[in-house]
Amino acid sequence: MILNFFYNIWLLTNNYKLLLILLPEWIVMSGPSSTNLSATLAKSLNYELHEVETKSFPDGEKKIRINEDVQGKNIIFVQSLYPPVDHHVMQFLLTVYKLSQMGSKVYACVPYLAYARQDLEFQRGETASLAVISRLFRSIGVNSLLTVDIHSTHGLGYFSFPTFSVSAIPLLANYVSNNIKLNSPLAVSPDFGGSSRVEAFSKLLNIDYISLKKSRSRTTGEVVMEDSNVEVAGRDIILVDDMISTGTSIVRAANYLHKLNSGKIITLCTHALMVNNASDVIKEAGVETVIATNTIPSDVSKVDVTKIIAEHYKSIQ
Ligand code: R5P
Repeated sequence: MILNFFYNIWLLTNNYKLLLILLPEWIVMSGPSSTNLSATLAKSLNYELHEVETKSFPDGEKKIRINEDVQGKNIIFVQSLYPPVDHHVMQFLLTVYKLSQMGSKVYACVPYLAYARQDLEFQRGETASLAVISRLFRSIGVNSLLTVDIHSTHGLGYFSFPTFSVSAIPLLANYVSNNIKLNSPLAVSPDFGGSSRVEAFSKLLNIDYISLKKSRSRTTGEVVMEDSNVEVAGRDIILVDDMISTGTSIVRAANYLHKLNSGKIITLCTHALMVNNASDVIKEAGVETVIATNTIPSDVSKVDVTKIIAEHYKSIQ
């Protein structure tokens, strides 16, 4: 009886070891646009961290090189596609193509997914850019894709392999609740498309929310705020958006809210692209602080998304 017990323990232990030997090894490979995030992710998952060697030629063409044997391995390749967008996209394509060709399984981690805003043919004759991205990703051998707060989850429908968008909104809400004092706070989405985002955020902090009606001319790109019947006088405002690019949407919203005698205004977003002089124009519009995550490394990256990315990979194993 006792012998039998020890024999069963021995069998279990050795089968477990055998399983560990048979399971493919997981590693994190850092893309050149996401070195810090790759490092914290590898540490959090306790995986080895590797780097892809990259080079740009004087004419702008890119070259990559994988310096280790990746055959049979599961690789989390982390490359955020922020500006210069096409430069990072090209590095991504060249790397994933080679990793697949060398016999590894590529789990693409693209914290900021570029081209996701043009996810429809908004005007006749335009290309839904995300449809092209999805085809490119598939053709080079992407096995699955993880991103953070994709512009619209509708866009995930273009991909014919598993895709996931995890949300940084709970992390941003947590940051606000631990670090910022606000008077009668009101969460505001600068446009109607962000309604579910601002609603989720406001529920976490148990505060009110509204969505402004923003219309943007598809030909000139000009953004106009439409009137909304909301009492904002005296209330501190948290503007919540998925991304800040030129800052135009935030500035228009801030101007509109100031006209209604709002209190102080802060703004939160997942992806701070901060194109051109976005920081300056936002500051000039009287916005006190910009708080963003590190999907795009910048001065305003105050919230780390490593945890939600690591949790995703732990859950799929
Ligand atoms: C638009 O639908 C997005 O959610 C953002 O509001 C927009 O892309 C931000 O761009 P910008 O900062 O140039 O106004």
